[in-house]
Amino acid sequence: MSKAYEIFSKFYDKYIMDTAPEMHKDYLKLIKLMQEKFNMEIGSMLDISCGTGILMKLLIEKGYSNVEGIDNSSEMLEQALSKGLKVANADMRNFDLGKRYDLIISFDSFGHVLHDEDMSNILINIAAHLNDGGIFICDGGTRAKANRMIGQTFNYGSDAYSFRWENSGQGSRVNVALNILEKTTGEKFTEEFQLQGHDIEDIVMAAKGSDLRLIYATMEPLVKKNGSFIICFQKS
Ligand SMILES: C[S@@+](CC[C@H](N)C(=O)[O-])C[C@H]1O[C@@H](n2cnc3c(N)ncnc32)[C@H](O)[C@@H]1O
Repeated sequence: MSKAYEIFSKFYDKYIMDTAPEMHKDYLKLIKLMQEKFNMEIGSMLDISCGTGILMKLLIEKGYSNVEGIDNSSEMLEQALSKGLKVANADMRNFDLGKRYDLIISFDSFGHVLHDEDMSNILINIAAHLNDGGIFICDGGTRAKANRMIGQTFNYGSDAYSFRWENSGQGSRVNVALNILEKTTGEKFTEEFQLQGHDIEDIVMAAKGSDLRLIYATMEPLVKKNGSFIICFQKS
């Protein structure tokens, strides 16, 4: 058994390029949209659960400065470091970087937050890392979307790796088994992890104990289709 993203990290960028090539460009568009909507001056930003840093790299290429990231997978971070990005190993449930940012983002990662208490702690930490008036933007999949994923399987193959993604579970909690084959060596790995669906109301409720004020929430498919939400909070 391997840890989540331990092997997946090695071909994550290729997987994204093959299966969702527009996703991070759409996140970039979303950030620009929110920047215009809320008239944001972005002098610094933190990408929470930055993974391999695909979005960080795009942001820097588009001229954003002081872009930093955290993630708790050393293997995902290795890929981000190889792109020359400024990242640190930290868990979003209890990080303390000792500094503040104008914008904090977290995309395609809140499914990994399994408990309400964790969500509250994450939002308190985020507020503590925002400058006054700073903005937090995240997305996530709803409970109904998670429920629809149960029982689904998905096969993927590239020249170096292939996998079979199997979802089981109950309600809005999905048990994922990622059965990976490294083609050159014939080695097989299984990465198991859980994903939890969240509704907008869950996140808004979890933010109650923080200094975050809801300023925007939508189910419009600005980035992903079918049952994803986008939420923006401002530090009051
Ligand atoms: C699907 S990947 C998305 C990565 C990146 N945001 C992107 O859009 O490409 C989810 C990421 O969340 C990270 N993650 C999961 N739980 C975490 C936690 N408690 N603290 C920090 N990162 C976490 C994983 O290591 C992984 O890199």
